[in-house]
Amino acid sequence: MNEPVPIPRVLVEALRGARAITVLTGSGVSAESGVPTFRDAQTGLWARYDPADLATPEAFGRDPKLVWKWYEWRRKLVREAAPNQGHFALAELERRAPRFTLVTQNVDGLHRRAGSGDVIELHGNITRSKCSVENAIVEDYDPEGAPPVCPNCGAPLRSDVVWFGEALPADALRAASDAARACDLFFSVGTSGVVQPAASLPFEALRGGATVVEVNPDDTPLTRSADYALRGKAGEVLPALVAAVRDSV
Ligand code: OAD
Repeated sequence: MNEPVPIPRVLVEALRGARAITVLTGSGVSAESGVPTFRDAQTGLWARYDPADLATPEAFGRDPKLVWKWYEWRRKLVREAAPNQGHFALAELERRAPRFTLVTQNVDGLHRRAGSGDVIELHGNITRSKCSVENAIVEDYDPEGAPPVCPNCGAPLRSDVVWFGEALPADALRAASDAARACDLFFSVGTSGVVQPAASLPFEALRGGATVVEVNPDDTPLTRSADYALRGKAGEVLPALVAAVRDSV
């Protein structure tokens, strides 16, 4: 059995007293659900491809079938996955905090499935498809074809996710940035913190005077600047955090 994760007493107090909490998650939070992290995502048939060579408009232009098939494989992984204790702990934290904003880079939709209410999805959602020309979300289409085509204009469909080199949805980014600057407690969970602009959010929170906590088994570029680095898996550290808050009531 794993050792219980030690949660600093001052952090429990900070959590209990926080007026506004903002959490940024990355693919590490879904690792314990069996969804490989972004940089570990290449297994089996896909091991010889670099995600950076698949998740781009150029790759889709070159070989739409290959890119659609890759997302189809990842969609299947996500469909078969279930939220883990880390996702559930964040949903509980939301219910306990006066103001709570969950910002995720994940495209797997597992936070909503765990009961989180208001999730800002910075990089889109893999379960939605959109027209690659008109950008409109398409719900009803003939699934034949790789990729299937837009029923309106006949252009190939693609996943509604943000690819390398594409802009993030402006409203989502603005809301995330506002929440980072306005919170008094900020958590960065399961992200390597190397992909901008999401990687700047904890630093915006620091500049705004928030206490910043990292939850990750490994060091990241944020670790040295964070007020607390809780070493461990999200599925262990986050429930321990929530339990400590619950027990301190
Ligand atoms: P990465 O694969 O870069 O990083 C995953 C992080 O999770 C690493 O720091 C791991 O140490 C950590 N980790 C692994 N297992 C964990 C666990 N059980 N609990 C907590 N942490 C764990 O994934 P992201 O940071 O999410 O964007 O990548 C950010 C973005 O890069 C992705 O959203 C994707 C990619 O570009 C787009 O596709 C636009």
